[in-house]
Amino acid sequence: MAKYIGILTSGGDSPGLNAAIRGVGKAALNQYGMQIVGFRDGFRGLMENRTMRLDAGELSDILTRGGTILGTSRDKPHRMPVGGKLLDMTDVIAGNYHDNHLDALVCLGGGGTQKNALRLKEKGLNVITLPKTIDNDVALTDATFGFDTALGIATDAIDRLHSTAHSHHRIIVVEIMGHRAGWLALGAGIAGGADVILIPEIPYAVESVAVAIRERSRRGKPFSIVAVAEGAVSVQEHEEQQAKKKAGAKQKEGKKAEVEDAPETQYAERTVRLAKQLEQLTGLEARITILGHLQRGGIPSAADRLLATRLGTACAELIDQGRYGVMVAARGDGTKAVKLEDVAGKVKTVPPDHPWILSARHVGTNMGD
Ligand code: F6P
Repeated sequence: MAKYIGILTSGGDSPGLNAAIRGVGKAALNQYGMQIVGFRDGFRGLMENRTMRLDAGELSDILTRGGTILGTSRDKPHRMPVGGKLLDMTDVIAGNYHDNHLDALVCLGGGGTQKNALRLKEKGLNVITLPKTIDNDVALTDATFGFDTALGIATDAIDRLHSTAHSHHRIIVVEIMGHRAGWLALGAGIAGGADVILIPEIPYAVESVAVAIRERSRRGKPFSIVAVAEGAVSVQEHEEQQAKKKAGAKQKEGKKAEVEDAPETQYAERTVRLAKQLEQLTGLEARITILGHLQRGGIPSAADRLLATRLGTACAELIDQGRYGVMVAARGDGTKAVKLEDVAGKVKTVPPDHPWILSARHVGTNMGD
């Protein structure tokens, strides 16, 4: 009996999602004689039973398309916005899975999706995931698709920002995505030759950055590029965050504490504040560029298409073998099935002694410390 697979994309859109859908779909149809159906807009579409046909026709000409043909959302099965309330819709989702007579559900997403997939596994569903995000912060995989494309976009942006920096003798502060991890800012900062790279993993001292910029001026380079990850914070803010978390943890003993995630506006406020401080401390003009969702847009890079395709075909192979409850991780030129229990809830951040950090320091980049 041919297996029937459901597939959805969840969380932020990312280059390579359609390449991954194509990889899973073409292998399932052509190699293993399976059938596949898409669910729209992440877990919400599964909860609402909104589907999209995925036959050979729909899987053609999507390899190079940005975004996701299925649509996506950040909705979680156990905290689904319904009628203005957050409701646990896990049982409805499990019911739709069975009503559609699915043999397996493929979830393409980042860290949050791995957690949501584990919950569905615990409900007895056959789930299998692929690691997607431009942040590259999913544990136990060499890489996530989306990262390489975003790296290229952010690097190109830094290349272009050098023009204004050296023409106007300015500090250009460029804010780069990555949520709580610094991979994108670190990689693009190195590739783009940023003079300063600030990442969440190394809380920065503004004075240290200013000294580095003033030193460049003294050496006849009165301009600097500061690549700042959106999650990067000063030493003082880091200490305040730690204290708040601790206080929040204490509250948890009594009642549920909501430790606020910094929304995009808070990122921008920090970036503006940093630019103003550097202007005051160096005497140079500063300008800000926030790359935002440009980093998720457009045609996926060759590396992301290759990664997404090989993860997708490996996923179809695992389904054919009846192996579920795993994420298909990239390992060297191959893949490895890692248990969702080992991935969910973990964020892969940049280790302080990571070779990329050493390399940045060795070419004279200031890391804010
Ligand atoms: O997780 C990918 C990501 O682009 C993060 O880098 C960023 O902080 C977040 O998504 C933005 O989320 P949204 O697209 O919902 O604004």
